[in-house]
Amino acid sequence: MSTIDPSDIKVGRRTVLLTACATTCLAVAGCSTQNNSNAPGVTLGSAEVPISAVPVGGGVILADEQVVITQPQEGVFQAFSAVCTHQGCVVSEVSDGTINCPCHGSRYSIVDGSVVQRPAQKPLHSYALSRTADTIIVN
Ligand code: FES
Repeated sequence: MSTIDPSDIKVGRRTVLLTACATTCLAVAGCSTQNNSNAPGVTLGSAEVPISAVPVGGGVILADEQVVITQPQEGVFQAFSAVCTHQGCVVSEVSDGTINCPCHGSRYSIVDGSVVQRPAQKPLHSYALSRTADTIIVN
């Protein structure tokens, strides 16, 4: 299991629950109002997460922001809504190439958010990304 140093998670006013999943999942709750790292990161509004927290072939769930950021191939990032299109639960894990909803078992592709396993019938909403040398910004 990989671990994330909570001091590497930078947030604004809210605590971010970060779930990083490759083959296993972990949850780290971190809260800080300081920007004290130059580590490569993902920026979503006021939240920054080290880019290393987005595993190749997996992704991270920003539960408070209700966003999932995936890296299906090295250097290729996608962002999706974390709200399941079935009945609105927030997805809870990313594993084995899918984003998984805990409520009724829907699974979505980390590549394009498409439904891999029902009952959901519509894909996850995707968000545009922009990228600097070391940061991904979810628009
Ligand atoms: S709300 Fe996600 S599977 Fe039903």
